[in-house]
Amino acid sequence: MNCVERLVTLFGSQAEVARRFRLDRAVVNHWVKSGYVPARWAMEVEHITAGQVAAVDILNEATSRKPLRLKSRPDGENFLANALVRSDYSMDKFAPSQRISSFHPPQRTLMGPGPTEIHPRVLTTMSQPAIGYLDPVFVEMMEELKSLLRYTYQTHNALTFPISGPGSVGMEYCFVNMVAPGDKVIVCRNGVFGGRMIENVERCGGTPIIVEDKWGEPVDPQKLEDALVKNPGVRVVAFVHAETSTGVLSDAKTLVQVAHKHGALTIVDTVTSLAGSPVLVDEWGIDAAYSASQKCLSCTPGLSPVTFSEEVVKYVQARKDKIHSWFMDMNLLLGYWGETTRTYHHTAPTNSLFALHEALLLIREEGLENCWARVHRHHTALKAGLEAMGLKFLVQPAYQTPQMNAVYCPEGVNEAEVRKTLLSEFGLEIGAGLGPLAGKIWRFGLMGYSCRPDNVMLCLSALGSVLEDMGHDVHVGDAEAAAHAAYASMHTTAAQAKLRQTAKTGTAS
Ligand SMILES: Cc1ncc(COP(=O)(O)O)c(C=O)c1O
Repeated sequence: MNCVERLVTLFGSQAEVARRFRLDRAVVNHWVKSGYVPARWAMEVEHITAGQVAAVDILNEATSRKPLRLKSRPDGENFLANALVRSDYSMDKFAPSQRISSFHPPQRTLMGPGPTEIHPRVLTTMSQPAIGYLDPVFVEMMEELKSLLRYTYQTHNALTFPISGPGSVGMEYCFVNMVAPGDKVIVCRNGVFGGRMIENVERCGGTPIIVEDKWGEPVDPQKLEDALVKNPGVRVVAFVHAETSTGVLSDAKTLVQVAHKHGALTIVDTVTSLAGSPVLVDEWGIDAAYSASQKCLSCTPGLSPVTFSEEVVKYVQARKDKIHSWFMDMNLLLGYWGETTRTYHHTAPTNSLFALHEALLLIREEGLENCWARVHRHHTALKAGLEAMGLKFLVQPAYQTPQMNAVYCPEGVNEAEVRKTLLSEFGLEIGAGLGPLAGKIWRFGLMGYSCRPDNVMLCLSALGSVLEDMGHDVHVGDAEAAAHAAYASMHTTAAQAKLRQTAKTGTAS
């Protein structure tokens, strides 16, 4: 009897073998037909049969049917089998006793502050074969990626590229390169991420000057102006464009103008704003900006697109002191990301970069303005639904960033329990409040591929039913009706605008 037949006899049927190994029946049927179990299953078979079918039998049988081609193995020596029969096999000391099988995450609807769901095209691209990061094909792809990023940032900045690391690394990269010990830096803080900027200034040996605004309110340009007048010689002004902790959008264009009036460079956090709201780097004169791949770019986390003006590059190149981080030293990284040179700096995360290329291509295909309009449309519908449930927004409509919607949790409702139930019963993830807003608000993201009408409707009906189940006074269905009405009204407005346009030009587009 071969090993497959022994397995079928042991468990009673092919179906039962498939169940025990968590396999499709067709796979087991294929084993039966071919008369052997593939070698990679050897340890699993021994484990599941509690040693009744030994791994070494599977290996020997599989090897005789489909020999392993290991060039360095001397003829006749089966090193795997030799290793496996030894009772004191020392490598097992490090094996966890629990059975581990491949990881298959559940399907979730991601409507929190990021990460977002990833478009199937991006996922497919990410699973393409690995290539070297100096491979000419990869280098060509990187050039395209940089130009797609320039489009997304609306800039001609030559130094526009993705840093290997999350948004926090992008933030640190800007400060490490642009802040020297003793520099005065104004940080405008109106939420969590402004606080992190202050940390960065301190760690670079700079002197932070804090311009404080309330959480949920935009950065006040007048306060910035006052601080610049009071503190001459400020080198850098830093602020968060869209504060993810509250969903407030500040007026980046005006803040940059104020900073430049006083001769300061600007660092702008566009982690949540890029591709969700307009970010016009050249038009607004932003000197340095960083973002993150997992928000409105809707890619896998772990990459931080940055862009630097010519002036910043010149400033960093002229710095006499040694930049306090080897990995983040702009001068060293220029050799890898520069247009003409390609020298080893670090091993680039190639497949993640393939994915970012595809994610940016999707944005290019849709068109930036259409992306912004889509986010705005679904925000309007979501807002109508949430307000129909009686929920109140944290941020005034004029400063609301549409991709990050923060609403107060109603009195008497267990905030964390609602999120937990949404995840366990509806597979829906939303965000919690941070810092002083922890336990007080929910955050609903409408970013990238997650920003879709089906997600808006699922979110409203799931939240309505969970709140009603918990005894909160909401009418299930009201929110969906309000969102539908909002969509209908937007469609009507769009249709009327199209008619007017047609009448004006005499052509239907
Ligand atoms: C505004 C802002 N800045 C910086 C970060 C840090 O990004 P990451 O989590 O990718 O390090 C985040 C993350 O949510 C953010 O929202």
